[in-house]
Amino acid sequence: MLTSEELRKKYLEFFKSKEHTIIPSASVIPENDPTVLFTTAGMHPLVPYLLGEKHPGGKRLANVQKCIRTQDIDEVGDNRHDTFFEMMGNWSLGDYFKEDAIKWSWEFLTSPEYLNLDKEKLAVSFFEGEKETNIPRDEKAAGIWKSLGLPEERIVALPRKNNWWGPAGQTGPCGPDTEMFYWAGPTKLPPKGSNPRDNEDDWLEIWNDVFMEYNKIKGMDFVDNTHGKEISVPTDEYIYVQLAQKNVDTGMGLERTLMVLNGYADVFQIDTLWPLIETIQELSGHEYVEGGNVTRAMRIIADHLRTATMIMGDDRGIGPSNTDQGYLVRRLIRRAVRYGRQLGIKDNFAGEVAKKVIKIFTKVYPELKKNQDFVLTEIEGEESKFRNTIEQGLKEFEKLVAGFRMAFEKTGQVIKEISGRHAFKLYDTYGFPLEMTQELALENSLSVDVAGFENAFKQHQETSRAGAEQKFAGGLADHGEMSTKYHTATHLLHAALHKVLGSHATQKGSNITSERMRFDFSHPQKMTAEELAKVQDLVNDAIDNDYKVVCEEMSFKDAKAKGAIGLFENKYQDKVKVYTVGDPKKPAVAEAESPTFSREVCGGPHVEHTGLLGRFKIIKEEAVGAGVRRIKAILE
Ligand code: ALA
Repeated sequence: MLTSEELRKKYLEFFKSKEHTIIPSASVIPENDPTVLFTTAGMHPLVPYLLGEKHPGGKRLANVQKCIRTQDIDEVGDNRHDTFFEMMGNWSLGDYFKEDAIKWSWEFLTSPEYLNLDKEKLAVSFFEGEKETNIPRDEKAAGIWKSLGLPEERIVALPRKNNWWGPAGQTGPCGPDTEMFYWAGPTKLPPKGSNPRDNEDDWLEIWNDVFMEYNKIKGMDFVDNTHGKEISVPTDEYIYVQLAQKNVDTGMGLERTLMVLNGYADVFQIDTLWPLIETIQELSGHEYVEGGNVTRAMRIIADHLRTATMIMGDDRGIGPSNTDQGYLVRRLIRRAVRYGRQLGIKDNFAGEVAKKVIKIFTKVYPELKKNQDFVLTEIEGEESKFRNTIEQGLKEFEKLVAGFRMAFEKTGQVIKEISGRHAFKLYDTYGFPLEMTQELALENSLSVDVAGFENAFKQHQETSRAGAEQKFAGGLADHGEMSTKYHTATHLLHAALHKVLGSHATQKGSNITSERMRFDFSHPQKMTAEELAKVQDLVNDAIDNDYKVVCEEMSFKDAKAKGAIGLFENKYQDKVKVYTVGDPKKPAVAEAESPTFSREVCGGPHVEHTGLLGRFKIIKEEAVGAGVRRIKAILE
């Protein structure tokens, strides 16, 4: 049996031997990224570097990234879907390209020293080309695979739907890819002529090498990836331009790879999930056997509580709430509790499962242990809160369905939809996430009036969930001019908060669109009007002073010694980038008059001087969780 620990180690060792710098996993909560709630691929935190920024680790990087993808949440329960996964990846930032990327993938997969996979059970696909965009068929990739000895019948061309990756959002780096598949069919070896195009279900994708040589941009976008040459396209359409630097972005799913390597029938048998299933078996007294509703419920509970724990236990951890990431945490926990109830678990159990998750990952992601108290308190609180109302809520739901039935018997009227008002009542009074009501409805062959729910919701609450929904669909922001300005403004705000409130007021998260910024930070109570005015004035003074924004690379130790603030999450890296606003030679001190206004560890990008920002205006200050405040602000 190959363990997850061995697989991670083999992967990183292999790429280390090919001169890659091993970098730690970034947070699952993206920083400075307006349109996605979670990190969904290893390339997400690396977008600025794929676009040309210099990475302190050099041009070859490899890591194992914590990822969250929620679009397939309803598929969880089958043999292969999960909402949290680990992605092993290697990157070339304008260094090696197709030849080495493919050669090394093949070597890692087949060499006896590494995965030692049977060559006869491997197949690949490559991009077939596209007329509309003028992007050619990737003969090069196909040729490299052939030269490595893979028979032609196992090398197939597929369209964009299969063999194109990115951008993660509307715009950004992207390109054709080549995907590697492992035989998972009923026979020992794949029959002659079998391939992933014609026998989709029998071939399991395990690895994807993306050749990111394009940038998808919108007309009029400011493009800063052409080595100082700015281009602006006078249309309102999306177009592909060649990136100045050709990159490689690869992603190998740890869970699926372990599943096929060990010959398991489902992903829940791997060692980062199986102990959770065991705990659920003990707590419920049920047995996990292939197929059936009990097994499905166990898989959902294991998956959801694992994901919720990874989000809460992150260094930018977020607890359950009604907005954005917190809403997903709530939804995951409550859905797990509902399935736990179905399995007959009477008492709080989510904390037990969370403890197991922390234990499983504590060596790989030490932040989990550090944040354990937060995770356990939040999960316990959330489960208790929901258990108080779920029984009554379910009764309410059953009453509703009984009413429909009665109406049919009395009048012949068929009601197929739960009204928005009713769905909102289940949400507001009994804490049923909309998706849970939809799921219950589906089990009774009913639907829910979602638009009606949203109307009722908007009437009751200022913040609309629609915003969060959009973000689930997700994508990266335009790395446009306005976002860059807001990014610099977050540094000014962060520094000003430290000066006015104290050094405990550290960043917990930020979110930027081209219209506004949001900044979450630690602070135990509501800020007073005077404090808010002071912070706003400090930021505007810094803008008026037109400070220079200077970027320097230095060691993690030097950055700390120089008083840089910010998240030191890449602390295992030798070098970090430090952005100083004001005089970089001066120490960062907590005085408004200091010529060094802010110093922060950050990947960029930023404006060159603060005078470009305009007027900074705080719109709102509010609570987002225990001890965490949020400021919304705009630049005018
Ligand atoms: N970014 C590529 C993926 O997620 C590697 O599949």
